[in-house]
Amino acid sequence: MKILAPRRFPGPAWDDLDGVEYYDGPLTGSRPDVEALAVVGEVIDARTLELFPNLRLVANYGVGYDEIDVAACAARGVAVTNTPGVLDAATADLTLALILATRRRMIEADSFMRAGRWGADWASTTLLAQEVSGATLGIVGLGRIGHAVARRARGFDMRLLYSQRVPLPHPDEQALGAEFRELDDLLREADIATLHVPLNEDTEGLLDARRLGLLRDDTCFVNTARGAIVDEQALVNELVSGRIRAGLDVFAHEPHVPPELLELPNVVLTPHLGSATQETREAMTRVLVDNLRAAAEGRPLPNPVYPS
Ligand code: DGY
Repeated sequence: MKILAPRRFPGPAWDDLDGVEYYDGPLTGSRPDVEALAVVGEVIDARTLELFPNLRLVANYGVGYDEIDVAACAARGVAVTNTPGVLDAATADLTLALILATRRRMIEADSFMRAGRWGADWASTTLLAQEVSGATLGIVGLGRIGHAVARRARGFDMRLLYSQRVPLPHPDEQALGAEFRELDDLLREADIATLHVPLNEDTEGLLDARRLGLLRDDTCFVNTARGAIVDEQALVNELVSGRIRAGLDVFAHEPHVPPELLELPNVVLTPHLGSATQETREAMTRVLVDNLRAAAEGRPLPNPVYPS
């Protein structure tokens, strides 16, 4: 099976594949010989599919597959797979890191030290921050990653609120120690609000200017999901005003970062690092390769995704 991939993916699993050709730049010319695409962040829509008349599989390196038109793939009999499960811990860890860095002003403190500005004793109030332990954490989307965040937050004695379309059964809520709130109420009540929903037509722009306006002053807003779930300009406006803080790993038009954010002390920025540990990226390669090999050998795909 001829596979087209943008690069070698990390880890030994990648060597289990035969027939890989690497491409550089956007997918353009017609390729009737290609039966599978390994993709990471490429837009795969009806126009792209035209170029690959014999395509059988689009294998996505990542759990979020919002750049892939799954319905267009299905209409052409092209399967789509992703890499769920293996990146929950790394993404939840990064979420906690952003919460800690943002609430405790870690990046400001680091710059302060490097600028040689530490002239007073430790009791100076210059970098007084906000407590993480005992804060109220609002989790928007309690899927696998949201759950992993909740478990970690319990270690910080946080009070947990969550919002999603269908509340958990009561015993599951009790086991997790989390209370359901409608989204607007969660935003009003949280000290820290963190997003863990997939990007799709229901969630695009879910946090618009009105909803961002519900956040209380000094709320810490964290996004390790997808930038387009938030009205990015409205978020920039809130951050420029200094009313809230944010830890942002994802952006609406990556790798573009709104330039205003680069100047702000109340924002911690990372370049889409949710899954970026050696172990997790290698595990993602294993899942990607398992799906590609299953397709090559005519076996059921381990991680198919379907049009919603
Ligand atoms: C994903 O898998 O969708 C992540 O965003 C990659 O870190």
